[in-house]
Amino acid sequence: MSLDAERIRSALRTRIIGRSLEVKARTGSTNDDAREAAQRAAPSGHVVVADAQDQGRGAHGRVWSSPGGTDLYVSILERRTLDMARLPWLTLAVGLGLRDAVARELPGSVQIKWPNDLLVDDKKCAGILVESSSTGMQVGPFVIGVGLDVNRSAFAPELAPIATSMRAAAGRDFDRNELLARVLGAVESRVDALYRGELDGLREAFSRHLAWVGASVRVDALEGVLVGLDPDGALAIETDAGRRSARSGTLRRV
Ligand code: BTN
Repeated sequence: MSLDAERIRSALRTRIIGRSLEVKARTGSTNDDAREAAQRAAPSGHVVVADAQDQGRGAHGRVWSSPGGTDLYVSILERRTLDMARLPWLTLAVGLGLRDAVARELPGSVQIKWPNDLLVDDKKCAGILVESSSTGMQVGPFVIGVGLDVNRSAFAPELAPIATSMRAAAGRDFDRNELLARVLGAVESRVDALYRGELDGLREAFSRHLAWVGASVRVDALEGVLVGLDPDGALAIETDAGRRSARSGTLRRV
């Protein structure tokens, strides 16, 4: 079924996110669209969703594969700022919300690969890209981009070994309009918890769904056993030289 603003609106149970909504058949990047909307004074919670992207952007300058007709490419404008110390928690809170919405639809394991990937049966099913501007110690507004592989049945050869979709995991198609409404609701609830300062609860929930705990991993130059999540949202790794924290970088298994 195609993306439809009226269907999304009628399924939406949020307070703010998606109450201002733009649905596009095709665009460059919804993150760019949301940033432009911010400059045109769009309200906090404004959402841009596209059926296809020509310049879908992933983390670390990578391309986000964005064909039409199957998946969700969505960006949320968040105007509330965060102090620098809480910044890492925004991506983690969005990931938790995304996981809440996806896990209720799927039978198998749904985990979060720190900091921004959703793994279904240990393959990547979604990614998050938060972009922001900063003024001093306060960061924001934010554009929160989410790419979720929903009904895709085939991936390019380089993605096939590492990527999956909800359809591949569940053996059925999903209504993207209803799913989007659920994702926005779950993300709103976790992000609101962050702005209320409920970091202990977020950390406890995130830790329960953190992928690769106990595995040998590497984040850039840090190598060791993944222990868990630090209170500041960094990844704790037990290395030969003791416990260290990774605050950015790409997590890999070794
Ligand atoms: C990642 O590398 O895992 C993050 C992927 C984020 C992709 C989404 S799709 C919607 C939004 N628009 C973009 O250009 N990127 C994000």
